[in-house]
Amino acid sequence: FASGLVFVDGRCQRAADVVSPPELLDASAAGFAFGVATSAYQVEGGVREGGRGPSIWDTFSHTPGRIPSGDTGDVACDHFHRFEEDFALLAALGVSTYRMSIAWPRVMPDGRAINREGLRFYHALFDRLLELGIEPLVTLYHWDLPQALEDEGGWRNKSMIVPAFSRYAAAMFTEFGPKVKVWTTFNEPATFVFIASDLGIHAPGRCSHREICAEGDSLREPLLIAHSVLVAHAHAVAALREQSGAGGTCERCRVGMVNCIKLAAPMNASRDADWQAAQWRMESELGIWTDPLYFGDYPRSVVLASGDLLPPFSAEERSLLKGSADYFGLNLYTAQFAAARFSRPNAADMGVMATSSAELNGEEGDLIAQWRETTGAAAGPREPVGEPGPTGWLFAAPGALRTTLNWVAQRYGQRTEVIVTEAGWAGMRESSELPLRIALDDQDRIAFLFEYVRAAVQARVVDGVNVSGFVIWSLLDNFEWNNGFGQRFGLVRVQYDDGLRRLPKASFSWLQRLISNATAQH
Ligand code: NOJ
Repeated sequence: FASGLVFVDGRCQRAADVVSPPELLDASAAGFAFGVATSAYQVEGGVREGGRGPSIWDTFSHTPGRIPSGDTGDVACDHFHRFEEDFALLAALGVSTYRMSIAWPRVMPDGRAINREGLRFYHALFDRLLELGIEPLVTLYHWDLPQALEDEGGWRNKSMIVPAFSRYAAAMFTEFGPKVKVWTTFNEPATFVFIASDLGIHAPGRCSHREICAEGDSLREPLLIAHSVLVAHAHAVAALREQSGAGGTCERCRVGMVNCIKLAAPMNASRDADWQAAQWRMESELGIWTDPLYFGDYPRSVVLASGDLLPPFSAEERSLLKGSADYFGLNLYTAQFAAARFSRPNAADMGVMATSSAELNGEEGDLIAQWRETTGAAAGPREPVGEPGPTGWLFAAPGALRTTLNWVAQRYGQRTEVIVTEAGWAGMRESSELPLRIALDDQDRIAFLFEYVRAAVQARVVDGVNVSGFVIWSLLDNFEWNNGFGQRFGLVRVQYDDGLRRLPKASFSWLQRLISNATAQH
């Protein structure tokens, strides 16, 4: 795998030579869209330009010790000044979709008052994308909360943040609705809620585990935030629906949320308790966000396990939530094993809720049946984990993507449109010390992406899941949050110590060829 090999037509071959997974040439793969992604704080820089206000990530990254490398997003990839050059790369790739985010503090520096200069910046971006025939898929919240709102309690203050977010969302739909037709309210709430306000290693850096910090002692705060985020989503979508009808400013606009999961696979597929633990993790880590969008409420297992820590939705909130996603955005990088003995998670384990299988009130039987049904087999997920990558958390697990897509289709309906909004790989040999020639020859990333694209396409053409596209993280190497610039996910290398030059890697030309083959075929 590290050397870029994949198994096709009964033989081990270089993914770069095969180019396209054979399934992509199937007629039912026609219309499958390819894209690449970035997010504002990770690429823009220009944090004090164009009237932008400070965000929680500016504060966090400038607090000594928060980011081990001391890196900040002050300059990042300087996309703020170089977006034309970056969009020329998109055009060269031939992608039909570009996933990006609006920085709330750039368009509303204090979270409320509009900054016209900020709007002009995004108008320029969208205009250029449309000229190039590339559809923008735009996230409203990719973690960069205006600091002024954090000072008022941020996501902990539901009565302040829900109206503030809905006003921001409504203003964006009005302003950009004629140009942007596909919207995402939130990117990976699980990450910014639990990693930021549970483990405390993302902005604003709050922590709720007595074992690892002094501030908190329960999941009350993260669960309260989770609740505010879901209600904010519901109100933002209601605002969009008002504008998306015929003649509205955001006519034909569609909206969803982007969520992430590491597929939970039973550690021991012959133990019922491990199947149950796996299903529990899927429900508590993914269903907690997505059940409300499709069913109007949290999974029953989550409600039972969290007791009074998780605020219930009002009847009005439930009805606003139900049906509030036009597509299911899925970020899937890797997989995890679940075993019954781990189902009382600890802080380091990211298994966010304190419960044990026994606490699920005798629902074990149902959970196991559900999981078996949703994965379509008693045999367990296909190849749940693969090789470890350089990040410490990222194992290549393409089978996990296919299984998760099936889980989503089974739970929310076969017609549910799913967009793989992120998958990507931080390269094995890309550190700054290695010769550039080696760093640019990212055969490992090509093999990773080849298998993930194949898994998504198999879910579509073989399993009949309505997966409509695949977006790669990321166009550029960029600011990888608490890991700074050390982890490189880009198809294009950014030379941080040499004028921020953009150097396409081998994976860039592989994707170019893959897209052009797929387009020619269909
Ligand atoms: C998820 C996030 O959306 C993105 O911001 C991050 O850089 C990638 N995954 C890689 O960790």
